[in-house]
Amino acid sequence: MAKTANQLFEHHLREMYDAEQKMVRALRTMARKATNRKLSAGFTRHAKTTERQVKRLERVFKAVGRKPRRQTCAGMDGLIEEYSTFAREEKPEKSVLDAFSAEAGLKAEHYEIVAYKGLIDLAKQLGLKNEASLLKETLQEEEATSRELEQMSKLLGKSMPMDDDAGDGQTSWSSGFSLSGKA
Ligand SMILES: [Fe+2]
Repeated sequence: MAKTANQLFEHHLREMYDAEQKMVRALRTMARKATNRKLSAGFTRHAKTTERQVKRLERVFKAVGRKPRRQTCAGMDGLIEEYSTFAREEKPEKSVLDAFSAEAGLKAEHYEIVAYKGLIDLAKQLGLKNEASLLKETLQEEEATSRELEQMSKLLGKSMPMDDDAGDGQTSWSSGFSLSGKA
């Protein structure tokens, strides 16, 4: 039931409680699968930060007198599914999977940033000052992570082989790139 701003706040809180817990697992998986050491270490570090964010959400639940409960976050499910499908089905080159992972992490951060901004606005509207500032701590962490991943993503994007290097006879962009690939 979501008939009031308070209930919407609680709904979103539960969604983020679900999303962050899913992120902890996904970040650990991405850290394990990453080849680039800096990327892997970054994911591990972010997993730890995310664990703290889960705890912080529990403090917000407590502050509003609610038991921490998860509500399936379909948005995060979709983003995680996008990553795992690619890793499973596209047989990516190591450097390509690294670039894809950095990008996937960045997408998740952006999703979280928008979600936390909404939660903070709602908290302020409801006069929940302390809760808003707790959530703002997380927002700032997400923004820092996002900046980090954006740089990683740019760097890793440049370290992938291109059609001409791969020597697999695929047509390169310059002479008529074909999207069909291996068909
Ligand atoms: Fe997070």
